[in-house]
Amino acid sequence: EKGGYDHFMLKEIFEQPQTIHDSLRGRLDAPKGTLTLGGIREHMDLLKNAKRIIIVACGTSWHAGLVAEYMIEELCRIPVEVEYASEFRYRNPVIGQGDVIIAVSQSGETADTLVAIESAKQKGAIILGVCNVVGSSIARMSDAGAYTHAGPEIGVASTKAFTAQLTVLALIGLKVAMERGSISGQRFQHLLNEMDQVSKKVAIALKLNDHVKEIAEKYKDARDFLYLGRGYNFPVALEGALKLKEISYIHAEGYPAAEMKHGPIALVDENLPVVIVATKDSFYEKVVSNIQEIKARKGKVIAVVTEGDTTIPPMVDDVIVVPAADELVAPIISVIPLQLLAYHIGVSKGYDVDKPRNLAKSVTVE
Ligand code: F6R
Repeated sequence: EKGGYDHFMLKEIFEQPQTIHDSLRGRLDAPKGTLTLGGIREHMDLLKNAKRIIIVACGTSWHAGLVAEYMIEELCRIPVEVEYASEFRYRNPVIGQGDVIIAVSQSGETADTLVAIESAKQKGAIILGVCNVVGSSIARMSDAGAYTHAGPEIGVASTKAFTAQLTVLALIGLKVAMERGSISGQRFQHLLNEMDQVSKKVAIALKLNDHVKEIAEKYKDARDFLYLGRGYNFPVALEGALKLKEISYIHAEGYPAAEMKHGPIALVDENLPVVIVATKDSFYEKVVSNIQEIKARKGKVIAVVTEGDTTIPPMVDDVIVVPAADELVAPIISVIPLQLLAYHIGVSKGYDVDKPRNLAKSVTVE
């Protein structure tokens, strides 16, 4: 049942080229330049005219929502907020007609997310569900939606559901942008091509498995980890830190790299591994400076870089090279080595990575 893998988590990490492909199937036709999202077609007018979009989710799904915020604001020029469902539901938020809520949930059963959309719906918002489990409570409560089609996720730590969420949220952003006319035809086609290539690039990133395992061995006894990224890779840093916490029980924090100097840099010393997602994007030069700041304080830097980068590798302790991609789709690729890193550290410490202590696959209590 684990398909020859030692754990469901590893199996699911390796399934990602296929699950991303499944998320795109029947929706994206890059050569023809078309994108079809049957589940939101009926509500497209409301969606493209939304005054704002509020994304509600928890945990890993919330991280996918953060990436979507950057994507949708850039592509659609609609204001987006991303909320922890557990806060949103209790804080009497201002919601009304014309607001669109996107609920992101693998299980579709997360109690906080379910109650959050229930009350938003009563206030007149339109609910769009991005769920993995077909027929789940959140999917049923939604007015419209798009399934992620990642297949059953057994490992408690979410992996393939995350990349499927990023894939579907990118498609939604692209579709709405096209309908609104907020994206040029050329950029639209370029991003369709990028989406079309992404599962192939994820397959290439998975070849890093042995290399990442060596890095895991080297750092597995660290007490703390820091994960840094900027722009589209900031939520990837949060997700990398969450994966490590969940399955290796090592304290880890994710930060936008520029926030370091506002406090966390005080933690850096020669014992602290700092994972920096530093792929070639519009923030690249800034991230290079952030790496220098860490190295000046003797932190151990593990950098995820784009193939062909010759600047960062000589500056850092360990390098993980991933294929080049447009920054909008880069998180789907750059998260792969971070999933593997958490997996191998957890396994090398002897933990049951499929069933981390204190965690349940779906959190149906508040
Ligand atoms: C992280 C993880 C949790 C879930 C969160 C939301 O690996 O599994 O943080 O992402 O509980 O769950 P769903 O997406 O089912 O609403």
